[in-house]
Amino acid sequence: MTANQSLKPITTKINEKGHLEIGGCDLVELADKYGTPLYVYDEATIRTIAKEYKEAFSAYKNINMLFAAKAFMTKAIAKIMDSEGFGFDLVSGGEIYTVHSAGISLAKSLFNGNNKSYEELEMAVELGVGKISVDNFLELALLNNAAKARNKTVEILLRVTPGIECHTHEYIQTGHLDSKFGFDLTQVNDAVELILDEYKNLKLVGVHAHIGSQIFETQIYYDEVEVLLKEISIIQEKFNIKLEHINLGGGLGIKYTEADCPPSVNEIAEKIISSVHENAKKYGIEEPHIYIEPGRSIVGTSGISLYTVGSSKQVPKGKKYVAVDGGMADNPRPSLYQAVYTADVANKPEDEHSEKVTIAGRFCESGDILIKDIELPPLEEGDILCIYNTGAYGYSMSSNYNRVLKPAAVLVNNSQSDIIIDRENYEHLVSLDRIPDRLK
Ligand SMILES: Cc1ncc(COP(=O)(O)O)c(C=O)c1O
Repeated sequence: MTANQSLKPITTKINEKGHLEIGGCDLVELADKYGTPLYVYDEATIRTIAKEYKEAFSAYKNINMLFAAKAFMTKAIAKIMDSEGFGFDLVSGGEIYTVHSAGISLAKSLFNGNNKSYEELEMAVELGVGKISVDNFLELALLNNAAKARNKTVEILLRVTPGIECHTHEYIQTGHLDSKFGFDLTQVNDAVELILDEYKNLKLVGVHAHIGSQIFETQIYYDEVEVLLKEISIIQEKFNIKLEHINLGGGLGIKYTEADCPPSVNEIAEKIISSVHENAKKYGIEEPHIYIEPGRSIVGTSGISLYTVGSSKQVPKGKKYVAVDGGMADNPRPSLYQAVYTADVANKPEDEHSEKVTIAGRFCESGDILIKDIELPPLEEGDILCIYNTGAYGYSMSSNYNRVLKPAAVLVNNSQSDIIIDRENYEHLVSLDRIPDRLK
């Protein structure tokens, strides 16, 4: 079993006070000290899964691990992943800036995304982001200009849509043919021709794909490798160039509920490595340098959210709604793509789960439901609800909807807790507002 197959952070236990504890920290005390809603990240779980990735791929000599910053990114997370030897998959100027401002070299990182601005491309070139995954024809031209203006040559991968469909929510599928991401395989020829003939400041070194997220199938990685290696062999033969890199994206799933059975990191690694061995031989090419970009499986299980229980409503002959002090603005996943979670009550985790309730958020939308129909101990005002597996695409997708303040995030380890993102205050909230003179 690897950490992505655990329902809870690996240090989760019930302490002598009968409270839930993670990283040696009592969750009720964390809620009291830092307030709620609160994101709590377990450093031990993050480091364990990072090490599991490295171990699982250690049989392959040329492998680069990139952490997909979009899952959750702060300077502290950047420091942890850098110390574990990961580079970063970055998709915006903001993500590039976060890593750079944490004092980390960008040489091992990759800049990704389907509509990067010219300013962002300039920033990536200037700050020395190691490679850029180019998504479309416009971007080839923009990036070449940005590189030329700085008299630099930039190493690029071509992002392609491999035509592989994975069985996950349609909003998080990306590798199927009808996708907004990347070059269709039928466009690759033209793109390579342009790079070789016109874009002299771009050096094509490989191809990149990402087939989706929360993936439970392993064969799909085997197939993805085959598509990319076949494509490389076609390009190499036709253009007489050598492409040494394939980036397989991220996507490994995690266990949101007991019903979820994601594969282990080892199973994925075995499929990828065996596919590289077999298909490199099949297509007569050298075994490439592999990149992988996990996000969710690194920080998803590591993070939980704490909420304080407030009002409740029993609909006559219907559901019982219990409202908490957060919801869709701090974690939009349930309302965005029907994500399902499990939870415990941090101050009474051992009480019998004897009541079926629906956990409602505090935001002014009927769709603001965090968990539908979950069995929990009877909830009372002031109880601290712990929702598991919120570490990925939760805070990173949060907003100030209803002008509600964004929560804080803390990192726990060895009984120590440290703030990694401050809670917003009302001053932060209005700090960018301006009143035009004519309205004063
Ligand atoms: C290109 C790319 N790489 C990596 C990831 C990370 O995926 P996951 O968090 O599922 O591992 C994503 C997620 O959308 C992505 O688009």
